[in-house]
Amino acid sequence: MANQRFRPLIWCRKWSKRDQAIAAAATGFAIFIITFSVFSDSRTKPSTQQPLNPSSAPLRVPLTLLRNATHRGAFCLDGSLPAYHLQKGFGSGSSNWVLHVENAPMVDFHQICSRDNRLVDRSAVVEGGRGERQRRRRRSRRRTRHGGGGADGGEGGSGLEEEEAVVAWRRLLRLCEEKRESERREEAPELRLCEEKRESERRECEIESGGGWCDTIESCSSRKRTELGSSRYMDGQVQFSGILSQELSQNPDFFNWNKVKIRYCDGASFAGHPESEFKASPVDVFQLELFFRGQLIWETLMDELLSIGLSNARQALLSGCSAGGLATLIHCDNFRKILPKYATVKCLADAGFFLNVKDVAGHRTIETFYQDVVHLQVVTWLYSVSSYISSIFCFFPQEFIKNIKTPIFLVHPAYDFWQIKHIFVPDESDPHGSWFKCKLNIDNCNPSQMEVLHGYRHSLLKVLSEFQQNKEGGMFINSCYVHCQTWMTETWHSSNSPRINSKTIAESVGDWFFNRQVAKQIDCPYPCNPTCYNIVW
Ligand SMILES: *[C@@H]1O[C@H](CO)[C@@H](O)[C@H](O)[C@H]1NC(C)=O
Repeated sequence: MANQRFRPLIWCRKWSKRDQAIAAAATGFAIFIITFSVFSDSRTKPSTQQPLNPSSAPLRVPLTLLRNATHRGAFCLDGSLPAYHLQKGFGSGSSNWVLHVENAPMVDFHQICSRDNRLVDRSAVVEGGRGERQRRRRRSRRRTRHGGGGADGGEGGSGLEEEEAVVAWRRLLRLCEEKRESERREEAPELRLCEEKRESERRECEIESGGGWCDTIESCSSRKRTELGSSRYMDGQVQFSGILSQELSQNPDFFNWNKVKIRYCDGASFAGHPESEFKASPVDVFQLELFFRGQLIWETLMDELLSIGLSNARQALLSGCSAGGLATLIHCDNFRKILPKYATVKCLADAGFFLNVKDVAGHRTIETFYQDVVHLQVVTWLYSVSSYISSIFCFFPQEFIKNIKTPIFLVHPAYDFWQIKHIFVPDESDPHGSWFKCKLNIDNCNPSQMEVLHGYRHSLLKVLSEFQQNKEGGMFINSCYVHCQTWMTETWHSSNSPRINSKTIAESVGDWFFNRQVAKQIDCPYPCNPTCYNIVW
């Protein structure tokens, strides 16, 4: 059943002599790090996310379970069948395909309910429990207006916001308690944030999405009881908007293509390997019933899509956001290989370029986290290669982007709030909460905090300087405080969506895909761009 056409993470295998030497040297170090990280429990668990409303009522598309998954053993974390949503193309788009790997829904419950019932991620809580007042204000005042410097305090009301945050926090702590209580009774009614909300809020909750990998048995197990790890909890229908919209006015270049939204249920950007299930729990994998089948899911899914028309594609775009954006980069060259030679095939990663940098306290938060994800889920095919090295090479695009041969487009906010909250300024590295207000609203950042954030933008641009020379590549790096921007019509293509040099993201991506013109757009530093959607939590 192993399919020779698929070469998972192929660049990860291309070890030069020098790499191997580094790997060998690093293995020892990695063992130390791993040992250390096993005992360290205070790492960030990326997962939160952010929202914007889709404007007009978008199409809702039903869920399809992957047919051959059972006999291929391609399961979500909990053993359920993986799923996708398909909308057939029409007219001139009927032999073109756009695939979008969803980003993980906004809140991983595990992130909020830590073992000792402490608040793990205040910002997630503020998001999850924010009041109606904030919500209303956010709707009407999405767009920032910048008169002067970015450091002045905004419109006030932050005291109230904190009060609301405290109320929300208490409410969530209660939910955590109830959740544990119910687990104790083994009834386990699913307590998910979205379910807690009223219908109107629920819709908003559903569309707010974010990154997400699970790095421990515990966090993967708690994911099994959410749509992030099980199709049993996925909604029967989802909205298709932004890059998946079928409206010409909202999606000028791809509106009539075949469109597939790929549900993300493996917790490792579709890079997990079943062999690691044994490694993960020497105690009793079968009792745990955790499946690390990301790579298999990917292969089985691609086979199914090929069988229903993808194999005749003339043009195809693989895209994804956040963890899905990373999956897009990881699988891009394989996607190219399984399609006909004559087809035009390209990949678009939205907010999937996670930087390998130290956080404000000098800790390697994200590196340690990815290393744990790899160690848990991704068996390194060369057993001599450490998970430390693998995590670096397989999960940080800056390490492998130069090995990808298929043309790539990067949509990325230079002030990616997810990275700011989880990579640059994780709560653990800000024990006194001095970044709290700044992370809620970038306009609240003081001048020295802004300097730090500009520093991260600078690091991003530096890392991308080589990619910028890539003739087939494209980029749209805007200076907004936001995360995913391709799958919401408001940010993808509308009369007031973010622009650089008067182009929307959709227009830039179209220019690049159809070689209409060079599309490498880089914004000036925040707050220079008045067209930004900046998230206010
Ligand atoms: C599903 O499995 C059957 C039996 O192995 C195979 O003949 C068929 O081609 C598979 N279909 C897809 C879409 O992979």
